[in-house]
Amino acid sequence: MTRTIQRPVLAANWKMNLGPTQATEFLREFLPTHPASAERTVILFPPAISLAAVREALRGRPDIQLGVQNVHTEEKGAFTGEISAAMAAEAGAAFVLVGHSERRHLFGETDAQTAQKCARVESAGLTPALCVGETIEQRERDETEAVVLHQLRAGVSAMSDEAVRGMIVAYEPVWAIGTGRTATPEDASAVHRVIRAALVELAGDGALEIPILYGGSANAGNAAALLAADQVDGLLVGGASMSARTWATICGS
Ligand code: 13P
Repeated sequence: MTRTIQRPVLAANWKMNLGPTQATEFLREFLPTHPASAERTVILFPPAISLAAVREALRGRPDIQLGVQNVHTEEKGAFTGEISAAMAAEAGAAFVLVGHSERRHLFGETDAQTAQKCARVESAGLTPALCVGETIEQRERDETEAVVLHQLRAGVSAMSDEAVRGMIVAYEPVWAIGTGRTATPEDASAVHRVIRAALVELAGDGALEIPILYGGSANAGNAAALLAADQVDGLLVGGASMSARTWATICGS
């Protein structure tokens, strides 16, 4: 049975920042400023090596969910430096980022790999958060819709319809990530509507419940406007999620 994820979803992707000590410090500062709320879902994606420390710091706060930033396509074996979806589950993760633009563009992750990873994540009983987004060149060539739909359809191609209905999708235009250049709420809505229509076509009306997050230079100043935009069900935040105070403001937006 797929559970429904309460929207809005506020997700922090710390990327390769905040080791176990700093992650613990972060939570010591953040938790008292963020009371548990059944009205939203907060997910932290620390580096995998900080997962145990974060889990420990979150004892008594089951309202905050945990995820990992990447897993390998295979279940286990001789893949030095990698982690599997099953290991992530065992370590306390409930969510996995798949196909983040940094994985695609810096590490050469292909659509076929994102598909395999989403399937592995499903088999391990975890929820994939599939990231899609166009580069600035693709946007200028008017290819945004085609690129995003291709990445979306490829990413979910090996998942069951039921798992698709229980997943998260994140629209992260590559040109907005870490650049300070945010998509306008209207830009985000336009792409989110296209994603929503494709998800409903793929998995039926249950796909109306899939949270579609926006990511790319989201911050405390623009979070509320982005969250108010049509079809924007949450935010996936990089830079601005690494300060406990800023993150608390975003989570309260
Ligand atoms: P920034 O919020 O730093 O632009 O990063 C967005 C992102 O990549 C989240 O996954």
